[in-house]
Amino acid sequence: MQQKTALIIGASGLTGQHLLELLLDDPLYARITIYVRKPIHISHPKLVQQIVDFEQLNSAIDATDVFCCLGTTIKKAGSQDAFKQVDLIYPQKIGALQLAAGSQKFLVISAVGADERSSIFYSRTKGRLEKALTLLRYPCLCIFRPSFIMGDRAERRMGEKIGIFFAKLISPILVGPFKKYQPVSALALAASMQHAAHQHTTGLHYISSDEIKKFDL
Ligand SMILES: NC(=O)c1ccc[n+]([C@@H]2O[C@H](COP(=O)([O-])OP(=O)(O)OC[C@H]3O[C@@H](n4cnc5c(N)ncnc54)[C@H](OP(=O)(O)O)[C@@H]3O)[C@@H](O)[C@H]2O)c1
Repeated sequence: MQQKTALIIGASGLTGQHLLELLLDDPLYARITIYVRKPIHISHPKLVQQIVDFEQLNSAIDATDVFCCLGTTIKKAGSQDAFKQVDLIYPQKIGALQLAAGSQKFLVISAVGADERSSIFYSRTKGRLEKALTLLRYPCLCIFRPSFIMGDRAERRMGEKIGIFFAKLISPILVGPFKKYQPVSALALAASMQHAAHQHTTGLHYISSDEIKKFDL
């Protein structure tokens, strides 16, 4: 087996933390670099932590596969513009820098309903990110479109909690075209990213919530 190297952005987040644990245990990867704003309390022989200022980032690292779990909320970011920086501009910029440096695969968390023409700002931003990444023409691009992501989050997100409550309640009747609205756990999402990294070598792949849900234990 030819070993690979990975870059994770957003490794300190709910999904990113699970993904990092999975990749550190994954023999496919010889080294995992994470870009973080502040150090995380994990040390591992395969882990390289790089403290970066995402605004100033202008160089790439050696990584065959790039995983993007970056994201914020408009409330937390403080404005739509600040949200756009995190959810669109940073991933797009890192995607371009890494492609130029030879990365082969980009795996990114978008969201169900992502659409660059949407009247909803969040969905429009995610749609614009998907479009921008597609235009980069990575040899392999995997776009994950989860519905609500469940897990133990320290931060209080009331709107999200209410959404998860109702999505779980109606989950049994989310069938057919509505399956893509099923909430998923952050662990299942991370596992589906790891699986896609193993499975796909070329092409553009969209992974919906119901496909991600299959990784729920
Ligand atoms: N939550 C949901 O229900 C849901 C549903 C569909 C799609 N999504 C999408 O799924 C992705 C992952 O979500 P999640 O809930 O796992 O993420 P999360 O727990 O909110 O973590 C977000 C990550 O982004 C980083 N980040 C946030 N603001 C930043 C900034 N200004 N500069 C640099 N890094 C920043 C955080 O770093 P710090 O630790 O330094 O803050 C963290 O590593 C996001 O793109 C989100 O939009 C979420």
